[in-house]
Amino acid sequence: MNSFTYAIVVVSDRGSRGEREDRSAPVIRDLLDGIGGKIAGYKVVPDELEEIREAILQWTEGSRRVDLVLTCGGTGLHPRDVTPEATRGIIQREIPGIPEAMRAASLSKTPHAVLSRGIAGVRDTTLIINLPGSPKAAKENLEAILLAIPHALEKIQGDPSECGSQG
Ligand code: MTE
Repeated sequence: MNSFTYAIVVVSDRGSRGEREDRSAPVIRDLLDGIGGKIAGYKVVPDELEEIREAILQWTEGSRRVDLVLTCGGTGLHPRDVTPEATRGIIQREIPGIPEAMRAASLSKTPHAVLSRGIAGVRDTTLIINLPGSPKAAKENLEAILLAIPHALEKIQGDPSECGSQG
């Protein structure tokens, strides 16, 4: 897939109160725009399950549907971290390989990589991926799976061609 649409949901209590500047979305945008991504939505929400869920859902249906929703933050162990739980309630098919690859690659950067509980999966024809929240963590995690995204989106949208020819 040469071009695709995406939305970013930043999950942060402080960010949603205007107490912290979001420095992660620009990093995510740089990486995704480099592989043909076109941003179509952006929202900052607090670490509240229902608000995270609604923010993601709005971009999986109707005229606002995008090919890819990336969440950023709220994947850790703090009692308020509920992004994976919100995501799990929305996806219909989980893709374990995406967070497996992110955590495996991240372990060479920090032993704290194991503390991100992020998941990935598909709802209808939208791919949803949880990234950890800091700019550094978001970048390192997204880089680990970046080149698999276009092919993932093709398959999610029903591309019938045989796999294996694209490397
Ligand atoms: N992964 C990478 N590649 N680099 C990092 O700096 N930080 C970790 C982890 N994953 C990190 C990382 C830390 S310190 C935490 S607490 C978890 O992601 C969860 O982050 P979150 O709560 O912001 O989602």
